[in-house]
Amino acid sequence: MQTVLVTGSAGFIGYHLSECLLRQGFSVVGYDGMTDYYDVALKQQRHALLSAHPQFTATEALLEDFARLREVVLAARPEIIVHLAAQAGVRYSLENPRAYVDANLVGTFNLIECAREVGARHLLIASTSSVYGANTAMPFAEGDKADTPLTLYAATKKAGEVMAHAYAHLHGLPTTCFRFFTVYGPWGRPDMALFKFTRGILEGTPIEIYNGGEMYRDFTYVGDLVRAIRLLIDAVPPHPSNAGPGVPGDTLSPVAPYRVVNIGNGQKVRLADFVDAIEAECGRKADRRLLPMQPGDVPATWADNRLLKALTGYAPQTPLREGVARFVAWYRDYYGV
Ligand SMILES: NC(=O)c1ccc[n+]([C@@H]2O[C@H](COP(=O)([O-])OP(=O)(O)OC[C@H]3O[C@@H](n4cnc5c(N)ncnc54)[C@H](O)[C@@H]3O)[C@@H](O)[C@H]2O)c1
Repeated sequence: MQTVLVTGSAGFIGYHLSECLLRQGFSVVGYDGMTDYYDVALKQQRHALLSAHPQFTATEALLEDFARLREVVLAARPEIIVHLAAQAGVRYSLENPRAYVDANLVGTFNLIECAREVGARHLLIASTSSVYGANTAMPFAEGDKADTPLTLYAATKKAGEVMAHAYAHLHGLPTTCFRFFTVYGPWGRPDMALFKFTRGILEGTPIEIYNGGEMYRDFTYVGDLVRAIRLLIDAVPPHPSNAGPGVPGDTLSPVAPYRVVNIGNGQKVRLADFVDAIEAECGRKADRRLLPMQPGDVPATWADNRLLKALTGYAPQTPLREGVARFVAWYRDYYGV
């Protein structure tokens, strides 16, 4: 049985990924600091659900606690490490930038260092579409320059990618960095639009819509995202000296077993249309407060997902309306509304 270390296992994506891996017969070692960026009860419940599975164990500790992290990694000796733990959120990085430096720079360095020491077969690291920053050419492709981050969140995520490249090169540590595009679905994050809009609509309180609704996002259903991660686990980047002809658009580094892959739905949806879909599912109209563009926000994201398809034969496919329906059903059930 293969062991996978999942950092951020009590988080939104970490929970879904761990669940998927356990169902497929992997042994999952979770690691999560249970930070209070949002309701910790949600994180505890996700871990409690995973703990019902005999092949799941979890440690509650911060990535910054290097001694603890190292102890867990050396004891588990995972073949695969999926690093999802991070201080997430674009807007909060204006309020508390240091949290991003601690979790995403120091934390990610600690994790990469442990992956090297244990000799993991494949290290997979979550990055974000935010690294495309001020780029305007759409859709965003992995080969595009990503040197103009607009927030410290994006800057720390980009730094994680480049630190990982150096380790992949120096230590031959096969590494995939994925750039996620606005992930949504059941057990989602309370700081994200779908959660906030659903809560506002069901409670009859106003919802804040930035840039007057002239915002576009490539919404990616969490079940599709997790499936893509699962398939990418097997797409271990080869050392470039052993690589065959490769796949079109491959981002394989010329000097390291390292690549970057977008995981996005491949469609951009107007925020106002997204709100329409949530209203339809809730059976109520939203009280929309149109606000200006927020500092650090980008007007649009849209993934070129051809590399994901070329590497895995898979592309996300859940229609927005269906994904929103699954979220609203979960929300109503979870909060009893
Ligand atoms: N959800 C999205 O739309 C999205 C988009 C792009 C990238 N990402 C990235 O995907 C990953 C997972 O995101 P998510 O949406 O599941 O977020 P999440 O906040 O639900 O999960 C992150 C988990 O990491 C844990 N964590 C935070 N700081 C930690 C630390 N210093 N030490 C140990 N644990 C810590 C948190 O307690 C949390 O459970 C993150 O790396 C995020 O940056 C997410």
